[in-house]
Amino acid sequence: FAIERNPNPADAAKIAEAHANPGFGNYFTDHMVIIDWTREAGWHDARIVPYGPISLNPANAVLHYGQEVFEGIKAYRHADGTTHIFRPDENAARLQCSSKRLALPALPTELFVESLRQLVALDEAWVPPHGEDKSLYLRPFIIANEDFLGVRAAQRATYMVIACPAGGYFSDPTQPVNIWLEAELARAGRGGTGAAKCGGNYAASLLPQETAYANGCEQVLFLDSCEGKYIEELGGMNIVFAYRDGTIVTPESDSILASITNKSLLQLAADAGMRVERRKVTIDEWREGAATGDIVEAFAVGTAAVVAPIGLLKSQDFTIENPPVTEDSVAMRLRAQLTGIQNGDVVDTHGWMVAT
Ligand code: COI
Repeated sequence: FAIERNPNPADAAKIAEAHANPGFGNYFTDHMVIIDWTREAGWHDARIVPYGPISLNPANAVLHYGQEVFEGIKAYRHADGTTHIFRPDENAARLQCSSKRLALPALPTELFVESLRQLVALDEAWVPPHGEDKSLYLRPFIIANEDFLGVRAAQRATYMVIACPAGGYFSDPTQPVNIWLEAELARAGRGGTGAAKCGGNYAASLLPQETAYANGCEQVLFLDSCEGKYIEELGGMNIVFAYRDGTIVTPESDSILASITNKSLLQLAADAGMRVERRKVTIDEWREGAATGDIVEAFAVGTAAVVAPIGLLKSQDFTIENPPVTEDSVAMRLRAQLTGIQNGDVVDTHGWMVAT
């Protein structure tokens, strides 16, 4: 990577301000990664440059057809001051799958991981201190970067990574999150792009998300688009259920984004001897399970959300109220273990953390 240093980097006070109350996606670090791709030359010109606006021709394909895929991954500060990223190979593989679905080029895993390591190394001061449940969120993305209004697979593309200090994703991380059941609109259809991490999926969630807000909820839950009875996922994260008998269940569908946080939590649950199931879950199963007490917890899981217990599921016709969350809730125990590994306080037996 060629490195062009930012001549006006943020001073310590500005970084401290960002660390004090980062929220999500509010403050950006001093640098960003750019790598170009053309059909003829492949990936080339890897560089790190000062963070700042990019200029796009109004005819750029990404502006018209949404040819874009992205990732979310975090860097954590360990107690000894070193910084580490969580399972970057998994994000690299998922980005490759997303790219394939959107007819964008696949970025090789080594280049992906190296881009994150170099950016974190350069903007190391932006990784929040250890022990505050904060991290540096990395946002890699690829756009079809060509000035052409014809609709086609990308001939030119650009990969970029930007980074922002992140705290909790939801407005009050100490409270369970309420979610709204969308009964009409779907996030993804059969054979569509639901399993890809592309901007359009998130755009499609925004109108139902507005309905959720109007009903006092912070996320929207989608059902499958064919039968409207199977639980898919939330607007920006997966959902997991804990059953009274100790089983952990997450919905299975080929139109859900394969969450790396979800996969990791299920692994930790299996390690702890819990039964783990990835299978179809109907909304009726949740309703009945909550009523009988067979389903005792539901939680939202994702890189940005980490693990967020769900308080209420509200819908036009009914409400599901989950039991109060305690330190001993499955969600909180799994969360503590996962964040413990990420922050370097719990032994990483799976080798998930990669030093930057
Ligand atoms: C992530 O969790 O990394 C995402 O991209 C989800 C988004 C709602 C912020």
